[in-house]
Amino acid sequence: MSDSTESANVIKIPVSKLSVGMFVTAFDQNNSQMAISNAGQIKNRQAITTLVKNGIKTVWVDVERSSEASGLKKKEPRTTSNPLRGKPALNPRDIKQKHAKKILAEAKCLIQKVMSETFEGKAIEVEPFAEIADKMIESVVGDADAFKCISALRTKDAYLLEHSINVAFLLVTFGRHLNIDNALVKQMAIGGILHDIGKVNVDTTILQKPAKLTPEEFEKMKLHQVYAIDIMKDIEGLSQTSIDVCLMHHEKLDGTGYPKGLIDEQIPQHGRMGCIVDIYDALTATRCYKEAMSPAAAFKVLISLTPHHLDQKLVYEFIRCVGIYPVGSLVQLSDDRVGIVWDSKGRNPLNPIVKCFYSLKHKRYTKVAFVDLKKSELNIERGVSPSSLEADPSPFY
Ligand SMILES: [Fe+2]
Repeated sequence: MSDSTESANVIKIPVSKLSVGMFVTAFDQNNSQMAISNAGQIKNRQAITTLVKNGIKTVWVDVERSSEASGLKKKEPRTTSNPLRGKPALNPRDIKQKHAKKILAEAKCLIQKVMSETFEGKAIEVEPFAEIADKMIESVVGDADAFKCISALRTKDAYLLEHSINVAFLLVTFGRHLNIDNALVKQMAIGGILHDIGKVNVDTTILQKPAKLTPEEFEKMKLHQVYAIDIMKDIEGLSQTSIDVCLMHHEKLDGTGYPKGLIDEQIPQHGRMGCIVDIYDALTATRCYKEAMSPAAAFKVLISLTPHHLDQKLVYEFIRCVGIYPVGSLVQLSDDRVGIVWDSKGRNPLNPIVKCFYSLKHKRYTKVAFVDLKKSELNIERGVSPSSLEADPSPFY
């Protein structure tokens, strides 16, 4: 067993050196770790005697989970503060994440600027959006995991900005998964960034209402797609693909969508993809009036919307593309630790590397450990929605 392969907090010690309060995770047998089902702190001397009687000579002890009284752990403030403090030099993944953070910040600034200019009646220029779309594609091709982690980290007060960026990013990821030509993916991304631009003309009391909209308010909200038609007309050089992604993201295959009530073949593939990623991102975001859904729960909703509203084949393809435990999402492991799905490249979707930082059992942060599920006996118990977790995962992204 090696459930903390990259963590330095599990040590091997002889049973004769065990003391009360030490957290035993495994026995040593022929120089390899044997997991024990009742891992935990040594409660009394009797437990140590039992180990000796059973012929156990060496055990594996988790320093971090041992009590201070065990003498193993240096006294440090038990804290809910960030255990990442004093982090060593940046590794390649950190550098890529920093880069992804920069692109997202640029994209947010751009959208904010364009939204206020559109509100003032100024024309939108395509070029800055094309640049951002290029950077997004570059980032996804380089290391999609870095970008996924950063975009999973959302703030409650910037929904519209983050939603626009995420829709674009998901379209890039989905488009590449379907082997769509990069030039077309770029146009889809531009449409994704702009897809909710019509909301600049919707009353802010409706846009920011901290509760579900009434039917009347919802009708007013739907007008954002009517406003978008006019805004799109004034954007010089905007491709038909980008316009479609924007204007079709609320259309439904059975014709019950808006603003035009398009049916079946009237909605091209990129339009159908826009509908899927828009709903998925809205479901997995926390809003002040609703909890964020886990990806798995959101997939269920997407499937329930097929085949009448959404393209069934594309929905299944999207699920394959994102994966049941996408990078950046939170999961609970079988030892009750919670972590961020960190790396999934070249792996079975059920065996990613998980960056653990919290124990549900002990209700406190743990030392950060990268658990490689390919090598570990642990497994993912379930996806965890960020809002259901009583701890803040954001310092660990
Ligand atoms: Fe919308």
